[in-house]
Amino acid sequence: MRGHRGKTGHTRTGAGRTPRVQEAAAPAIDRMLSVVVRPLRASELLAIQRTFPAGGPEKHSARLWRQEAGEASYLIAWVEARPVGHLFLLWAGPDHDDMRSRLPRLAAVEDLYVLGDVRGRGIGTRLLAAAESLVHLRGISRIGLGVSVDNFAAARLYRRLGFLDSGAGHFVSRWVEPDRYGVSRHFSETLVFLVKEMRS
Ligand SMILES: CC(C)(COP(=O)(O)OP(=O)(O)OC[C@H]1O[C@@H](n2cnc3c(N)ncnc32)[C@H](O)[C@@H]1OP(=O)(O)O)[C@@H](O)C(=O)NCCC(=O)NCCS
Repeated sequence: MRGHRGKTGHTRTGAGRTPRVQEAAAPAIDRMLSVVVRPLRASELLAIQRTFPAGGPEKHSARLWRQEAGEASYLIAWVEARPVGHLFLLWAGPDHDDMRSRLPRLAAVEDLYVLGDVRGRGIGTRLLAAAESLVHLRGISRIGLGVSVDNFAAARLYRRLGFLDSGAGHFVSRWVEPDRYGVSRHFSETLVFLVKEMRS
């Protein structure tokens, strides 16, 4: 999956209540953290832009816009008032054209990210579980994600959660995003796509 980044674009924001998605059973340490996962609300956009500066503020506003347009769900993990992680869930599959054509009829996870100081405490697992329940509720039978061929730790997490190699081979993803000084930089990574069949 492309890492901590995403598309830029529209900046429209809007109001609207969004449901709490997932507060179900979780590992003990996770419960101690009181993690809540739910779709981003317009009123929370600024906090998300400040907490997750990578990729620039437009990344988050574009995702909120796409959520409001019904294309996606932008899930945020919170520990009390602190946003600690995010996951972008696309109903019609990956943004990457080649991936979408080779991997039809699935919902795609992009940019799963958890803040460094709270990694390894079940938050990434909770974000993925919330995404899976939303996919299941929509009646979509598969969920998938691209993971960089050298991101062994993330791949281990996905495999533990039941994601398997799609067999579609490698994909090269290229993108441009601003660095911390606002200068546009070109990036690329080679990904393998993993899928999980949803239980009916
Ligand atoms: C991958 C990531 C989202 C996992 O979130 P998390 O909250 O740490 O995940 P969980 O606590 O639910 O699960 C822990 C598992 O995540 C994986 N992991 C990956 N990077 C990790 C890290 N820096 N610290 C701890 N676990 C990490 C491990 O497989 C770990 O399993 P293990 O305990 O068996 O080793 C998070 O580490 C992260 O944001 N990494 C940087 C961005 C990234 O690589 N995103 C994935 C792109 S495909």
